[in-house]
Amino acid sequence: MTNVNKKPNLVLIGMPGSGKSSFGRALAKELGRPFLDADDVLEEREGTTIADLFRNGEDAFREAETRTSRFLSERRGQIIACGGGVVERMENIEAYKRSGVVIFIDRSPEAIMGDVETEGRPLLKSGRERVIELYSRRIGKYCAADFIVENDGTEWQVLERLLRLIEEEEL
Ligand code: S3P
Repeated sequence: MTNVNKKPNLVLIGMPGSGKSSFGRALAKELGRPFLDADDVLEEREGTTIADLFRNGEDAFREAETRTSRFLSERRGQIIACGGGVVERMENIEAYKRSGVVIFIDRSPEAIMGDVETEGRPLLKSGRERVIELYSRRIGKYCAADFIVENDGTEWQVLERLLRLIEEEEL
């Protein structure tokens, strides 16, 4: 039997609404590996909510996000969905890369705005222009990932792409 704790972490990054959590959960189910949502882990460990951290300024949230990235990078064999802004501090990505592979789920701002619930997502709430601005500003940083998977098909097609990548690269 394979010991998942010896496997690399599979770390999903991408814009809010790109599908990190949905695909992370689906992959976990398919592969029989544990799934962790980095924002949930952050809230649990910090004993507060993301909204509250943001009320103290974005920096307060980013500090907590870096602590969480370091914590999660100590683990192995996990499927981790990161918050969309994890690339705002590249040390987070460097830590995650030391623990496994980082996969960028690339979804266009148009598609994101098309079907994502923006309520409760502070960075998407402010609308289309903001999403385009955020995407343009972050795209270069997202591309620091080890692999890029386009989210431009049906859910099943994208999941298949991810599974094929994992199989081919023996991740
Ligand atoms: C953020 C994305 C959010 C959350 C926080 C900041 C960002 O996560 O971490 O509100 O800066 O893009 P999701 O990508 O899961 O929405």
